[in-house]
Amino acid sequence: MNFPITRPRRLRSSRAIRDMVAETQLSISDFVYPIFVKEGIDGKIPIESMPGIYQMSLEDAKREAKEVESLGIKAVILFGIPQKKDELGSEAYSESGIIARAIHEIKSTVPELVVIADACLCEYTSHGHCGILDKNGNVLNDPTLELLKKEAYVYARMGADIIAPSGMMDGMVRAIRSALDESGFYNTGIMSYSVKYSSNFYGPFRDAAESAPAFGDRKSYQMDFRNVREAIKESKLDIEEGADYLMVKPALAYLDVISLIKREFPYMPLAAYNVSGEYSMVKAAAKSGWIDEKSVAVEILTSIKRAGADIIITYFAKDMAKWLGGAV
Ligand code: PBG
Repeated sequence: MNFPITRPRRLRSSRAIRDMVAETQLSISDFVYPIFVKEGIDGKIPIESMPGIYQMSLEDAKREAKEVESLGIKAVILFGIPQKKDELGSEAYSESGIIARAIHEIKSTVPELVVIADACLCEYTSHGHCGILDKNGNVLNDPTLELLKKEAYVYARMGADIIAPSGMMDGMVRAIRSALDESGFYNTGIMSYSVKYSSNFYGPFRDAAESAPAFGDRKSYQMDFRNVREAIKESKLDIEEGADYLMVKPALAYLDVISLIKREFPYMPLAAYNVSGEYSMVKAAAKSGWIDEKSVAVEILTSIKRAGADIIITYFAKDMAKWLGGAV
């Protein structure tokens, strides 16, 4: 051949060169670690469907938050499991509720750690739905917004840095933004679960958060996984309503959605939630010796970042912090 030919393999010829030309880097600042705080227990209860993850007492959650911070992780997202549930999910917005106490205590113990408070009702309602029900069991949108406003206010007052509404109610971001601003919490951010699909990957989380719906499903509020154009609409509305961050959830089966939302709204920080089912599948396959846990987890998280996520909520965050300490 008498002309220079491009040989892509030159750029793959050694580990050092591959590292130099790598397009995507995972960093510890990318990750958010979920913590489940359960009222009325001592110690930690392992979640069978999520090996390595626990329901924790308030004391243990505080200890966990300290450990997470010492590993270099910047943020946690908190979920509360109350002892008493009722139709209106009152424990979600009670100032003495488990989640309010957890936010306050974690923020006071580890002030540098960013505390994201998931704002939903499903862990707190007796029926397990994400809002108030009418007599036919349908979730009522606007009355639910009133409860979300109370919830956001209480979490902000307790010190949450970011409120993350996950219930997929129409207008939830606007409602929460106005509740926060009216009470002077201008600096409390909103990370909206803007694009949240009605997914079969949430099963293990519902064990962890004790939040499975008692009847029916969430298809009348969470998105249909056959849709992607609708993701643009949901995100656009959230931006207009005052969201500071967008989110796509789940992540792995929705990389096309992550990529699209990043392209459509490049100026918005984008979070992706690597959800419980995605985590548990890796754990289960690794336990059977069918895949190597660390390499597969790193590959999955890299794919989520490569697709366009800036922030990744993942149950692997602590492991990643340890793995990133060595060579990935
Ligand atoms: C709702 C909520 C869910 C998850 C996060 N927030 C579950 C649901 O919508 O049923 C799922 C997260 C996961 O699967 O890891 N509060």
